[in-house]
Amino acid sequence: MDKPTIAAKEPAQVDVKAGESYWWCRCGKSANQPFCDGSHQGTSFEPMEYKAEKDRTLFFCQCKHTKREPFCDGAHNDL
Ligand code: FES
Repeated sequence: MDKPTIAAKEPAQVDVKAGESYWWCRCGKSANQPFCDGSHQGTSFEPMEYKAEKDRTLFFCQCKHTKREPFCDGAHNDL
């Protein structure tokens, strides 16, 4: 299993819209953090879909070490 790249040691605040799908980058290589831009090609990672059920503000993990994918769980504090 490849290790994910730490894109940033802080979460990304995103205003999601009800009914829309968001593809969270798991590999950490995307230039469009916290979302996938296809840079995982050739790695063992796949993006994770998050479908928003309502309009809200969420904090997506960018260190890629969260245990609460795709959201920040504070794991970046221990990196
Ligand atoms: S670019 Fe990271 S999962 Fe697609």
